Amino acid sequence: MDAKNTFRQHAIVGFFSLGLAFAFNRFLDTPWSTTFGRVSIILLFLILIIGPVMRLKKPAKASTPLRTPWSWRSELGVWFTLTALIHFYFVMGGRPNWSLMEALGGFIGGSGYGFANTLGLIALFWAVVLAATSFGKIIMFIGVESWKWLHTMTYVTFYLVSGHMLYFQFFSTYGSGPDWFGYAAAAMALLVVALQLSAFAKTVIKNRKKREK
Ligand code: HEM
Repeated sequence: MDAKNTFRQHAIVGFFSLGLAFAFNRFLDTPWSTTFGRVSIILLFLILIIGPVMRLKKPAKASTPLRTPWSWRSELGVWFTLTALIHFYFVMGGRPNWSLMEALGGFIGGSGYGFANTLGLIALFWAVVLAATSFGKIIMFIGVESWKWLHTMTYVTFYLVSGHMLYFQFFSTYGSGPDWFGYAAAAMALLVVALQLSAFAKTVIKNRKKREK
């Protein structure tokens, strides 16, 4: 996530997130809990591809928000967390007599679900920490270095969320097996890993060239 939030960018990302949730629910008949989980993971995917894409291909002149994709990361991060919280609210609220302990023990069909829910809950914890530390005053308070270190947890969150999502889509008896979103999300996860590795390889090659000079 980045350091600066603007009202305009929040409005655009919020409109996009809620619009996408509405479209999933209205046109694809997806339940609200699933809808918000899906929107949340899409926002996280966007946050995570910006960094490596920018490292692989720096734009010639970065003057407008569209030409500076990294300037959207904190708004995307805050909306990632908000939509994840709404997902959690619907998941838990959709079950009468819900309790968190029951969720972690596996409330919809067996103990494997408990593990997937636990991954989701740890991811949600980090999502809230990351969103809460995405505002200028807090960044100044904890210091830029600590903030940078903390925000490397975005990748950890991504792997936790991917495990959570892949479990429900591919390894559980929940629903009727993987659907289009399961395959799309698995492809997104692979793309994030591929981009990370390519950006890492580029940095290694650049540093080696510098040292050889
Ligand atoms: C950052 C936090 C989270 C994200 C991004 C997230 C995202 C997702 C995604 C993408 C799915 C798969 C939907 C599908 O395509 O079928 C899903 C399903 C599910 N998640 Fe989460 N989740 C998070 C946290 C949680 C938490 C904390 C719980 C409960 C303890 C939870 C419970 C569930 C359940 C029960 C399902 C299957 C039912 C459904 O689709 O609504 N999730 N989640």
